[in-house]
Amino acid sequence: MKLASVPITLTQCAKTFRGTRVLEPLDLHIDAGETLVLLGPSGCGKTTTLRMIAGLETPDAGGRIAFGDDDVTALPIEKRQVGMVFQSYALFPNLTVRGNISYGLKIKRVPAETARQRVDELLGMMRLTAHADKPIDQLSGGQRQRVALARALAVQPRVLLLDEPLTALDARLRDTLRSEMNTLLRELGITTVYVTHDQAEAMELGDRIVVMSAGRIEQIGSPREIYYRPANRTVAQFVGTINRLAGERRDGMLSTTGGAVPLPAGSVHANSAHEIFFRPEDAYLADPAHAQLRGHIESTAFLGERTRLTIGGAAPDALLIDVAGRVELARGTPVGISITQDALIALS
Ligand SMILES: Nc1ncnc2c1ncn2[C@@H]1O[C@H](COP(=O)(O)OP(=O)(O)O)[C@@H](O)[C@H]1O
Ligand SMILES: [Mg+2]
Repeated sequence: MKLASVPITLTQCAKTFRGTRVLEPLDLHIDAGETLVLLGPSGCGKTTTLRMIAGLETPDAGGRIAFGDDDVTALPIEKRQVGMVFQSYALFPNLTVRGNISYGLKIKRVPAETARQRVDELLGMMRLTAHADKPIDQLSGGQRQRVALARALAVQPRVLLLDEPLTALDARLRDTLRSEMNTLLRELGITTVYVTHDQAEAMELGDRIVVMSAGRIEQIGSPREIYYRPANRTVAQFVGTINRLAGERRDGMLSTTGGAVPLPAGSVHANSAHEIFFRPEDAYLADPAHAQLRGHIESTAFLGERTRLTIGGAAPDALLIDVAGRVELARGTPVGISITQDALIALS
């Protein structure tokens, strides 16, 4: 399926509902063909941003939205050529799969033969051919989601907008569909804005991720940038798990409760109080005599492929450390831990 795709530019787009500003003025550029994920906790303004791009909400005065060179700020949704998929699917229960997918084509008076060919192609692409004449209520959640996606694509949109499309599904199905979605979005090459509060979805699907909180953009970057170089604590805490080491700076080391860790090069600070951060997978157990930090096992959680250890006494806060699943350690066992040097993160 051949789809044209356009870049999207939001300039100073804010949104106020009944006197309450829910989005601060935001600037955002989405490349043609890119998948941009809006990630953040519930209520941070993801859906509102998506709805402004769709034409379902108007930005406050002064905001501007462009698709390529077209200023679409004043255009209603039906004139923007966008395809939308919601968490709730919003399929027509009294129509068949084919009926749902071809609905927008009927409205647009696309000639019957063209419409039939396009729907057949989409049915094949979404592995729904065998289900074409079934009513919606005979489909599984995953199949319904694919119908919703096919329906959004049928009208050959310039932009695809997805709002938590996998959230309603159970965990196992969500994993499968996430990877299907990934393949599909790459094949289609359509400019996509994908809203989720699930960081695994954001990591797998996003060319870039926009981390939002409380109506603001906290960081925009590739999944690796967001994970390994979080811009601030909000991002670091929302994306993945992070440990804090607080202590005193002394001779290039951070001295803390259970030992000392070499500070990353270039970490300068006005006073001697200091803190650095690291991910649970970036520390390892070591012989306590030679380890950077000493502590004891407070608790363990066996998660199958890995075990997450909670270690007390090594730093002011308990530390979470991931080790291989087969490692078994009793509560109270003294342990040494060291942290991979280039994995230390300094945050303001
Ligand atoms: N139509 C509306 N009227 C009033 N407040 C709204 C409306 N839509 C969203 N909000 C508020 O705006 C904020 C952001 O909502 P939303 O964009 O839906 O967040 P998210 O999708 O990130 O969960 C929330 O506080 C929400 O209650
Ligand atoms: Mg939402």
